[in-house]
Amino acid sequence: MKAIVLAGGAGSRLYPLTKVSSKQLQAVFDKPMIYYPLTVLIASGINELCVISTAQDLQRYKDLLGDGRQWGVEIQYREQSTPEGIAQAFLIAADFIASDAVILMLGDNIFSGGDDFPRAVSGFTDGATIFAYHVKDPERYGVVEFDRNGKAISIEEKPRHPKSSYAVPGVYIYDNNVLEIARAVKPSVRGELEITDVNLEYLRRGKLQVRRLSRGFAWLDAGTSTALHEASSYIEAIERRQGIKIGCPEEAALVRGFLNIGQFEALIDRMPTCEYSAYLRGVADEWHRLQGHDQ
Ligand code: DAU
Repeated sequence: MKAIVLAGGAGSRLYPLTKVSSKQLQAVFDKPMIYYPLTVLIASGINELCVISTAQDLQRYKDLLGDGRQWGVEIQYREQSTPEGIAQAFLIAADFIASDAVILMLGDNIFSGGDDFPRAVSGFTDGATIFAYHVKDPERYGVVEFDRNGKAISIEEKPRHPKSSYAVPGVYIYDNNVLEIARAVKPSVRGELEITDVNLEYLRRGKLQVRRLSRGFAWLDAGTSTALHEASSYIEAIERRQGIKIGCPEEAALVRGFLNIGQFEALIDRMPTCEYSAYLRGVADEWHRLQGHDQ
């Protein structure tokens, strides 16, 4: 399976933070926002990734993430010249997806806890898998309605009167039919190729699976200054309490076996002395300790 991280858009709600820097490059506590979705993808075992952003911001992502080799993955880049909808990502990255299945993550969606995504990726066969998360303000999102048996029966984009409290987070897994489906989607009244229309087509075909994310799972929004601050506070609180970092792609690459311990330590050697590199040293020490126990 391949992965796309969509990191375009104007980020106008975060102005002036986004005047010279993309929204998904903003700090969420101690890392750039895009590290969080990237880590979820690497932790799910995906090593072929494509970042989509604006012409203005693409170079900054390249400077930050390079070709991915440092994490044992491959990262390609594609430009979205105008933000014409989330589903446009499949048209832009069609040559990257080729004949594979694909998982799309929005670059501003932050998740913490649980192994729902790695499980969904490894268990994926065909059709589409999306997720549902209970929220207080479903009218801001795509909203999925379930019948009495827990089967998804409708999805609406930002409905004024939501039929449930279950929002659809920005993580979508599709088989290769998504290319054909996205090509047939027509712009909505807001002029966008809506991801909800892609999901509705899978629903119509009887090929949509909606998995409810577990209660302990956190899905954080970072779309406004207040939400960004709250997301930072949340990540800080969890990291401080547990001594474990969330959204650390290096660690995920080591755990997944994309980097061996030698490559991992060489990567740390190239980092400045800072809290982040100190954390990774601790991860390496723990790795050695556990290896010692195995022998
Ligand atoms: O966050 C989940 C929600 O994301 C879903 O529940 C909705 O169904 C889905 O439509 C989307 O809702 P939003 O309207 O909140 O998405 P927004 O336009 O804010 O875009 C989400 C991210 O994707 C944002 O960081 C910018 C990026 N983006 C968006 C569009 C439309 C792009 O890079 N290019 C685009 O063309």
